[in-house]
Amino acid sequence: MNSCVIGLQWGDEGKGKVVDILAERSDIVVRYSGGANAGHTVVIGDSRFALHLLPSGSVRPNIICVIANAVVVDPDTLLKEIDELAKKNITLNNRLFISENAHVVLDYHKKEDQLREESLGKNKLGTTIRGIGPCYADKIGRSYAVRMGDLRNIQELKAKLQVIVDRKNKIFAALYNAKPINVADIFEKCKSYADELLPFTIDTTEFLHKAIADGKSILFEGAQGTLLDIDHGTFPFVTSSNSSSLGMPAGCGVPAKMVDKFLGVAKAYTTRVGAGPFPTEQDNEIGQYIRDKGNEYGTTTGRPRRCGWFDAVAVSYAVTIGAIDSIALMHLDTLTGLKEIKICKAYKINGRETTFFPANITRLSQASPIYETVPSWEEDITEVNDFHDLPLNAQNYIMLIEEMTGKPITTVGVGPKRNQTILR
Ligand code: GDP
Ligand code: IMO
Ligand code: MG
Repeated sequence: MNSCVIGLQWGDEGKGKVVDILAERSDIVVRYSGGANAGHTVVIGDSRFALHLLPSGSVRPNIICVIANAVVVDPDTLLKEIDELAKKNITLNNRLFISENAHVVLDYHKKEDQLREESLGKNKLGTTIRGIGPCYADKIGRSYAVRMGDLRNIQELKAKLQVIVDRKNKIFAALYNAKPINVADIFEKCKSYADELLPFTIDTTEFLHKAIADGKSILFEGAQGTLLDIDHGTFPFVTSSNSSSLGMPAGCGVPAKMVDKFLGVAKAYTTRVGAGPFPTEQDNEIGQYIRDKGNEYGTTTGRPRRCGWFDAVAVSYAVTIGAIDSIALMHLDTLTGLKEIKICKAYKINGRETTFFPANITRLSQASPIYETVPSWEEDITEVNDFHDLPLNAQNYIMLIEEMTGKPITTVGVGPKRNQTILR
């Protein structure tokens, strides 16, 4: 059985927790898109892991971890993560495999991300400054890109870096009046990346297809969320990869046909980090209540997340384009204690009602949400582990979301820990 976990909103839905739970029944967990812009949290007892590049399955010592082709690998972050797990006696030796075709994020990508965002002023996208956009831009541009496999031929890479860095420095000086970067420093870093990461670097497509032929169970771990997809999200306020489930086959070379189940993850409300339209945003005391109670601060950047009501129009769109089979609804506990809860069931755009999400941001910014208001609950639900033990209003809320999205909610999160999960 192969399955894929996908974010149905603007990221941070709780994918890390869901992947950690499902990894127990998997042999291999694969990250196939995005980079260190992701921050996936796994809580085990009193330990909290924030993973940016390693698949969330990595905290389980027997799971094989794959970082596939379309991930942009920041070796500094990856090595730090490997070290942090080693400090907790979790080793990645012989069970981490990185694609030789994955592109490498280098310091000049992060610098370019930062300079561009600063120069945009109030029009900035609000990126994570992890060099994601510039690295994917170099990948698509082809001529000035570095892939993991290039670390194998270090002398050729030296010449290539000279050309790339010369060019980057011209751009940095001309556009941003910024100081040049030193190619020797980048090259020294690449030499040490080669020493430390080449032992993990292979043809992951071959590896995955052999594993499938051997009957292994593979879990594909999405990063970001469907609404941040470069082609299907709220462009330009998106990331630079196909972060919906449509990116999974292209990202790792395994066809979607070979995946038995697509599980979408959504929060019981909506959050977003960075700029861009957000129809159900509650920039008021309700949003603040959710932020405080749900600890809605970025795993990667620490930024306060924007918070709002559950948007069934947006989630239904993600379900539709993602061929989602079922939903994991996280953070139900965060809504406890609100006076009432609202769900957006349709948008009104220029006087017309629609239930199909417009990814085009001109239309999305004109959308006013049409809400259904439902009663809340006061009871603490953080220790509930059976659906029928939830307060009736919480059960009804879940069933209403099922009705609006047309998909069963098979997992409900009532807290960050593994055992704070209701499976139906
Ligand atoms: P991801 O990027 O989708 O993996 O999500 P993040 O890890 O960035 O953010 C989700 C946050 O919510 C993390 O701090 C999790 O520990 C936490 N979390 C996950 N599920 C639940 C839940 O059901 N209830 C609560 N209160 N916290 C949760
Ligand atoms: P996980 O995997 C939430 C957002 C950034 C910004 C936009 C572009 O933890 O759900 P980028 O650095 O990718 O160029 O930033 O995308 N973003 C995320 N928001 N969760 C994420 O990942 C995100 N990855 C990128 O905040 O708005
Ligand atoms: Mg996150």
